Amino acid sequence: MMLCKNKRFKRLIRCLTVLTTVCALSPAASAAPASAEMLVNACFSCHGTVGNSAGLTLPNLAGTPKQIILDAMQEFKAGDRASSLMGRIAQGYSDADFGVMADFFSAQKPQPHAQQLDAAKVALGATLVEKNCAECHITQGRRASDDPPVLFGQWLGFLQLQMKLYTERARKMPLRMSAKVQNLAPPELDAILSYYASQNPALIK
Ligand code: HEC
Ligand code: HEC
Repeated sequence: MMLCKNKRFKRLIRCLTVLTTVCALSPAASAAPASAEMLVNACFSCHGTVGNSAGLTLPNLAGTPKQIILDAMQEFKAGDRASSLMGRIAQGYSDADFGVMADFFSAQKPQPHAQQLDAAKVALGATLVEKNCAECHITQGRRASDDPPVLFGQWLGFLQLQMKLYTERARKMPLRMSAKVQNLAPPELDAILSYYASQNPALIK
C-alpha cells in the first residue's frame, strides 16, 4: 500500500515537473500577445500554408482583400454568415487577431488548383460573365483593396456551395448581385462558376 502511494506520488511529481516545463516554454502561458505566426498556423490545415486551400469546399484566402477577410471573420463570429466550421473557429479570436490574419493572407500569392472542369460549361460561362458578374468580380488584372471576394481559381465546390447558400437565403446576398443572379437559369449560373474556377488567380494583381 505504502509502495503504491509512493509510486503515485513520484508519478505526480514527474507529471508536475513536465507541466511546469511545458508552461514555461509555451508562449501561450506568458502575457505576451500571440504572434502572427501562431495565429495563422491555426488556419493552415484547411486554408493551406500560404492560403491556397487543400481542396473541395475550402476557400483560398491567398490574395483575398483584407477587408473581405475581416468582414467574413466578424460575420462568422457574430453568427451572421452561414458556415459549417468557421462560426465555431472565429469564436476563439479578437478583432485584433482578425487584423493580423487578414494582413497575412491578403499579402500571399494565390495559386491555381488542378481541378477537373467541364470545358463546355467554362466556355458558356465565359460568354455570360462580363454582363452579369464582372462589374464586381472583375475579369481583368486589376484589384482595389475593397473589392469583393476573389472568385478566380477558387475550387468549384466552394463556389457552388456558397451560391447555394445565397440562393437558399442562408447567406445574405448583396442586392445588386442578387438582381443579376435572379435573371440567370441555374445551368447558366453554374457555367459562370466553372468559368471563374478555371481562371488563373495569379492574373489578379
Ligand atoms: C477545419 C477547417 C478550417 C480551419 C482550421 C479554418 N477554416 Fe476558414 N473556412 C473553412 C470552411 C469550410 C470555410 C467555408 C465556410 C464554412 O462552411 O465554414 C471557410 C471560410 C473562411 C473564410 C471566408 C472566405 C470566403 O472567401 O468566403 C475566411 C476569411 C476564413 N475561412 C478564414 C480563416 C482563418 C483566418 C482561419 C484561422 C484562424 C481559418 N479560416 C481556419 C474551414 C476552415
Ligand atoms: C454588385 C456587385 C456584385 C455583382 C454584380 C456580383 N457579385 Fe458576387 N459578390 C459581391 C460581394 C460584395 C460579395 C461578398 C458578399 C458577402 O460578404 O456575402 C460577393 C460574393 C460572391 C460569392 C461568394 C464568394 C466567397 O468567397 O464567399 C460568389 C460565389 C459570387 N459572389 C458569385 C457571383 C456571380 C456568379 C455573379 C454574377 C452572376 C456575381 N457574384 C455578381 C458582389 C457582386
